Amino acid sequence: MVAKGELETIGRVTGHSNGKRDIAFECGNRVAVLEVFDDRMVRVVIAPPGSPLALSHAVVRPLSSWPRCAFTLDEQEQKFLMRTDALGVRVKKEPFSLTFCDRDEQVLNADRDGLACAWKGPHVRCYKRMREREHFFGFGEKAGPLDKRGRAMVMWSRDTIYRSTDADPLYQSVPFFIGVSGGLAYGIFFDNTYRSYFDMGQEDPDEYYFGADGGALDYYFIYGPDLRSILNLYTRLTGRMPLPPKWALGYHQSRYSYRTEKQVRKIASEFRRRRIPCDVIHLDIHYMDGFRSFTFDRRRFPDPGRLVADLRQQGFHVVAVVDPGVKDEDYPIYQECVERGFYCSKADGTPFVGRGWPGRIIFPDFTRQDVKDWWADLHTFYFGLGIEGIWNDMNEPSLNINPRTQGLWQRPIDESDLYMDDRGLNSNVARVRNVYALNECEATFRAFRKHRPHWRPFILTRSGYAGIQRYAATWTGDNWSSFEHIGLSVRMLLNVGLSGVPFAGADIGGFMGIRKMFRQDPPLYARWIQVGVFYPFCRTHTAIYTRPQEPWSFGRRVEEISRRYITLRYRLLPYIYNLFREAATEGVPIIRPLFFDHQADEQCYDPRFENQFFLGRDLLIVPVTEKKCKTVQVYLPAREWIHFWSGEEFAGGKEYQVAVGLEDIPIFVRRGAILPMQPPVQYVGEQEADILILQVYPARSGSLELYEDDGLTQDHHSGDYCITRFECSGTDGEVRISIGDREGTFRPEYTHFLFHIFLPARPVQLTVDGWAAEQWTYDERSRFLEFRCDVGSREIWLSTQERRERR
Ligand code: GLC
Repeated sequence: MVAKGELETIGRVTGHSNGKRDIAFECGNRVAVLEVFDDRMVRVVIAPPGSPLALSHAVVRPLSSWPRCAFTLDEQEQKFLMRTDALGVRVKKEPFSLTFCDRDEQVLNADRDGLACAWKGPHVRCYKRMREREHFFGFGEKAGPLDKRGRAMVMWSRDTIYRSTDADPLYQSVPFFIGVSGGLAYGIFFDNTYRSYFDMGQEDPDEYYFGADGGALDYYFIYGPDLRSILNLYTRLTGRMPLPPKWALGYHQSRYSYRTEKQVRKIASEFRRRRIPCDVIHLDIHYMDGFRSFTFDRRRFPDPGRLVADLRQQGFHVVAVVDPGVKDEDYPIYQECVERGFYCSKADGTPFVGRGWPGRIIFPDFTRQDVKDWWADLHTFYFGLGIEGIWNDMNEPSLNINPRTQGLWQRPIDESDLYMDDRGLNSNVARVRNVYALNECEATFRAFRKHRPHWRPFILTRSGYAGIQRYAATWTGDNWSSFEHIGLSVRMLLNVGLSGVPFAGADIGGFMGIRKMFRQDPPLYARWIQVGVFYPFCRTHTAIYTRPQEPWSFGRRVEEISRRYITLRYRLLPYIYNLFREAATEGVPIIRPLFFDHQADEQCYDPRFENQFFLGRDLLIVPVTEKKCKTVQVYLPAREWIHFWSGEEFAGGKEYQVAVGLEDIPIFVRRGAILPMQPPVQYVGEQEADILILQVYPARSGSLELYEDDGLTQDHHSGDYCITRFECSGTDGEVRISIGDREGTFRPEYTHFLFHIFLPARPVQLTVDGWAAEQWTYDERSRFLEFRCDVGSREIWLSTQERRERR
């Protein structure tokens, strides 16, 4: 690492020139360009003059495709002042440095004097001043605490099994973060694919910096002031998650590996026999012939097409793992890869050879368009068998595992002689390692687009770079089977979500763990599944040689807990699907930290509550992350909350100690919520219910915009969806719910809404569209009023007080 004292600095501004969308400042031997993307987003690029900027792998909307944004530039004696409608950038002349402010001149972010850009040889760095009470989030998949203030991190995608809750770096590299101080937040996306460094006040608590081993100092400053707006802009720049097939939101079961067709069939039948909902079964590497991608071992899986079809009959979808490493021996894919020169090469042009599960492997060069197309076409092998999802593993790329020891005790391999085409640049691994998976997933995505164009893709990836959300869901790799990892998984996924990647999960139950090979630890799985069902991507997975890890492997009690929680996920699917749609259209995360909608509430940043999280806006989940614990400390932000299980009411803005038996974790519902739910099913689309449940927690005001579509195809892009708006208002003893007209051409199958309304007292009057409703029930214990009405109904009115005139 380069020390601060060794760095050269940028010096003073010697001249400037204005373009229509940008301004260039010449300083010393660097040129700093400000490109105005939006009135809240400015790109800063500082590079030696004449050095061509490589095309970004992450950015899908370059400057030219944004509507032109007006800005002004004033020159003063000591500085320039650039202004858009929302943002001001002060450019100090001597030495060059930037200060970003809002319209009221409140400083959002400022360079350390003279260190706006510093370098030594190829290494670049940018220093910023730390704001008071500034917190940092995002950075993609990172272990450690939720708030990264005071910590240093590296972005360098690598294959690792991590037991330490501080391990760094991991599989993914997303050089994007958000700085929040009170109500004011901004994001910085450092679009540099080299090994990069983020020191958020560890070296010096008054400043932070980011830098990289090469490339330009190229970053986007994105102003909020709220987190939602930052993510909205960031994902406009780097792309959003397309709406996945609804079945992918169901429960997934996996292990390394279900080794035979017989075993797979048995697992599937057990789910149905035990009435534990499940939609997806993953096939890990043992389905392959000698771990060669695009093959099946016909001894263990004699008729894969038949197997997949039979599973489909039972309501399951199959996902197959595909590793990028191609076995180095005579088999057609290897031959073609070599003959057509499609591999990542050494400097001398010969294939770079690494070690993977199959032994010696070579790596397709996914930075080439023709290789992407070739790889995409190979997937007809899987699609032809009816396989609907592809799991892209080992794509950091992992290139030196020892297959005999499960990757442990690896011999080091020198990768410095690895090159990729990188759109004609012939880049060394130093530049392209972090984007290998992004390009591989693009190839896999292309496979779906080309060969299953009508259907929505499901791709799961282990590695990724900024923008990976465009192609794939991600999971946090080889985690550890321990209580600490339950909380860790939540913190990691919250930060992944704050990095533009909404569809993410962690191996429920934990992947590795020496103890788990010998002992059963039932409370761990119980606690994990209770949280895991709220991960956006919900899958149990475990390593080879570990004990079985299906929901029924831990005895009756844990099986019952698992059934109850997995069923709860299915009951909540309409709510969860709605959140996926919000993520797909606005880039907001599905699970959110406490402060997401309570940015100015300092207590929401208290590390004691860092594992609590929101599923969408209305449900607050409190994981239990210790083995023996009878109570948990909970913080509930402003407004009022209702305990999902007990109906107990809680005032917000306070801490509580809440009892936790093994059967349940605390879940709180925001007062004002209208939760769309469905009756329990064993898999998505099992039977079309004739009702949609609307669970309402009346408050002064509440609303729901419900999105529905066929959950499978691309037809929603051409208007085949259904949006219904619900409004609820309540004042002492009176509740009114209005239902808007449906928008879009899609019509769900159900014919009725089944209302569950949480009411303090039995209603005295209930009308639907002005007519007295006759059939309803009120349960004094749960305090839920229940009744059905036709989907054509427009207004529900009720009163819990005698002789109330309907207004
Ligand atoms: C890697 C993956 C893991 C998978 C194993 C075998 O370790 O992270 O999920 O089970 O490879 O494919």
